[in-house]
Formats: sequence, structure tokens, C-alpha cells
Amino acid sequence: MFLQCFASITFLLAAVARAAPTVNILTPVNLRTEGREKTHFEGLIFTKGHNVTTPSGGNHHCDGTNNKENRLPGPTCTSALADAARNRHFAFDGTFDPEFDDFFITSIGGDTETSTEFWGLLLNFQFTPVGGCQQEVKAFQHVLWAFNAFNVTHFLELTGPATARVNRPVILTVTDGSTGSPVAGAEVNGKTSNSEGKVAVTFGKVGVNSVKAEKSDSIRSNALDVSVCVSKDGTRRSMKESYVPKATISPPAQEEIITVMVPTTMPTLIPDQHAPVPWMTRPNNPGFRSTGEALSRSLWTERLSTSRTFDTTFDDFFITSIGGDSETATEFWGILVNFQFTPVGGCQEEVKVVDEILWAFDAFSAVNFLKLNGPPTARRNQPVVLTVTDGQTGRPVAGAEVDGHTSGADGKIIVTFAKAGVNGVKASKQSAIRSNKVDILVLP
Ligand SMILES: *[C@@H]1O[C@H](CO)[C@@H](O)[C@H](O)[C@H]1NC(C)=O
Ligand SMILES: *[C@@H]1O[C@H](CO)[C@@H](O)[C@H](O)[C@H]1NC(C)=O
Repeated sequence: MFLQCFASITFLLAAVARAAPTVNILTPVNLRTEGREKTHFEGLIFTKGHNVTTPSGGNHHCDGTNNKENRLPGPTCTSALADAARNRHFAFDGTFDPEFDDFFITSIGGDTETSTEFWGLLLNFQFTPVGGCQQEVKAFQHVLWAFNAFNVTHFLELTGPATARVNRPVILTVTDGSTGSPVAGAEVNGKTSNSEGKVAVTFGKVGVNSVKAEKSDSIRSNALDVSVCVSKDGTRRSMKESYVPKATISPPAQEEIITVMVPTTMPTLIPDQHAPVPWMTRPNNPGFRSTGEALSRSLWTERLSTSRTFDTTFDDFFITSIGGDSETATEFWGILVNFQFTPVGGCQEEVKVVDEILWAFDAFSAVNFLKLNGPPTARRNQPVVLTVTDGQTGRPVAGAEVDGHTSGADGKIIVTFAKAGVNGVKASKQSAIRSNKVDILVLP
């Protein structure tokens, strides 16, 4: 089916100018609702645009076409809220304003608006310009419903390492997610952030410790999950057994650190919505190349086997296996174009001439998508510096391995090649998708 798709250069150039339309399919979205005293929901929710019913507002469409904001229906900020509320059994309410053709959310999880405190909606830490049924949302974007959002100084964001040793401090950073500026005076695990937003936190308990930053004039932060492990003199064995099943343990490094990575982006599958996301797409537009077609062509060239199912509802393929790596109940194949998850499946997602397409096994559990950069040439036995970053965020990745060497906090790795000729190297790390290959021509 894929092999029948054939594109001329003319068609490819035309494709560049066309934006991929939103498709109304179940889409994983990061949703957080921060109430007066607590977080009602934080996690990944699969949602698509559909009708929403509230006690005060009634039953109305909520798929992005509200108030003619979008031409095509798609998942929205309010559909995500409604789906989380239904699945996790918390209440929400909203009145409906026919003029805006949208709900005004008045209450979530028992936190009801007052004459001075209202619910606000932010997408990727920015207030949305339109209401929640008008605002469509793409895969893995961050939707935040915040109580009293219009009368706060900061929307806190907490970042830090994924791992720590028990009773040893780690430095976490509190920023304002909207501006990126550091926030002083926020509390994390009983400690207060300084003027640079830094706070040293010590964990006494082995296992996954989930922490948030809070400040009285601010919306509390996302939860940061830190996996805390013991050092060599501790009980490594019992420690291993105490981890959640999804955790993977990498070999101990030179010193006594045992790195335990728990994928922080692991989807929280909602019981009645656990169908895999249809990343595959249909050849609905045979004039254009798609990621699915590119996959098919490259697999054919490499003589790799693949299998796929066809979903008639989505009129689209699910790739279930590539080169013998078959999906399991929890591990699926994902597609990324230029290191970002495609909002639609592989045949709907049109690609441009220089786009980088990545099909990755267990992509939805990966903490990082490694990207390796380095010089094109080196001299034999002379060190060269390579850099490992996360392709999605551009941030450096520590603890990645290239040719037996490990990247530091700045993502840098020093590698020496003993063999003249072309040396192809990749970076790899537990819980990360291994990097692109960098070919370095080593001169004698
Ligand atoms: C969805 O809401 C619209 C009004 O926005 C209504 O006309 C339609 O009947 C509703 N559909 C369902 C299935 O309830
Ligand atoms: C902001 O909140 C304070 C109480 O925390 C209240 O006194 C004030 O009226 C609020 N301002 C606005 C503009 O709502």
C-alpha cells in the first residue's frame, strides 16, 4: 500500500506550504489542575474533541470548532478536563456562554470560583487567547487549569535531576514557567529556593519521591519525580526490589552511584481509553510522501520486516513491529518528525525534503530522545568533544554513553579514536531513545 505512493519533486515542494491539519483522534495530553489547596489531577490523558456536559451549562460541542475558532475538530483543553474528571471521578462545572460558544469553568474538584478568584487556563504555561473548547491541543502539550490564576505572581515550574542518592542533597530549580525567570522563596520539601531559584533538597527515603514547589502568591508547580537510591554500602539488592516495575537500573558507574531511571513521561493509561494512539496514517493524499511511506521505503531497502494493522475507524495503519521488535501491552512504536511527536499518524504527516523521521520503540516511555553532535573530522589518538542533547528540548543530557565514555552535566563527552577511517558513533542511555549516528573521519 505504501509503495504505491509516489511523489514527484513538484508535489514535495507543494507539501512544504501545506500545514498538516488537526485530526480529531485520541491524543495524549499533559493535564494538570491546580486547586486552592491541592492538585486534583496531574498526568497524561488521552482525549479528542467531543460534546461536554456540565450541571450548569448543559451539553455542547467542545472540539475546537466552537465559535468557529478552528475549521476542523480536534482535542481541546476542556475535553481533556472532562475526560480526566470522568475517569478519575472528580467533579467540575461550568456555565455556557452562547456568545462565545464556550464554557466558563467555574468549579473543579470542589474548588469553586468566588467573586475575586476564578479558574484560568494555560497552555504550555501561557494563558490561552480563547476558551477551553475553542483551544485545540496537540500531543504532549501541557494544559494547566489553575484556581485564582488571574491574581498570582508566578506559575511555578520545578526542574531537577531524575535521580538522587539517599541523604545526599540534590539541587532543584524553581522558575516561573511563563517567563523562565528564577523564583526565590518557593518551598520544596521543606526547603526554600534562593534568588537563583535553586533549592537543595535531601531525600531520606529510597524509591520515587515526588515533589512540588509552592509559594503563597503563586500557582504550585508540576510534580518532579526523583528516584532516590542507596550507595554501594547500602543494601543494593533490597533497593532494586523496592522499585516500581517500570524502573530500569543501569550498571553502577565508576563510583558507587546506582542510577535508576523512571520514565517521567510514562503515559498514565486511563482504563477505558488504553487503545494505542494511531500514529499511523493513511495514504489519503497519494501525491505526497508521508512518514509511513518513508518507513516503508527504507524498510524495503534494508530488507527489514515490518507488520502493521489497519484501523478502519481512523482509516489508518498502526505499525506494530519493525525489524523483529514487536509492540507489547505497554511498549508501542512512536513517530517523531524533527524530534517532535507527530500530532497525526505517519501517512497523514507529510514530510519535507530535509525532515528527520524517527520511528522509536517504546517511545512513550522514553525520558530523552538523544541527539549527538560532533565534528566531522578528528586526528587519530587526539581527543574530540561530542555533545549529547535531548532532541526535543535542546537541553544537555548527562550520563549518556558514547564509545565507553559518559557525558557530563553539560552533555559533553571526550572521545579518542585509535583507528583511522570513518568511525560511526551513537549515544545511548537507559530510558532514552538512542541517538543519531555521527560519522567522524579520523585522519592518521
Ligand atoms: C452536541 O452538542 C451540540 C450543540 O453544541 C448539539 O447540537 C448536539 O446534538 C450534541 N450532540 C450530542 C451527541 O449530544
Ligand atoms: C487578589 O487576592 C487578594 C487576596 O489574596 C485580594 O485581596 C485581592 O482583592 C485580589 N485582587 C484581585 C484583583 O482579585
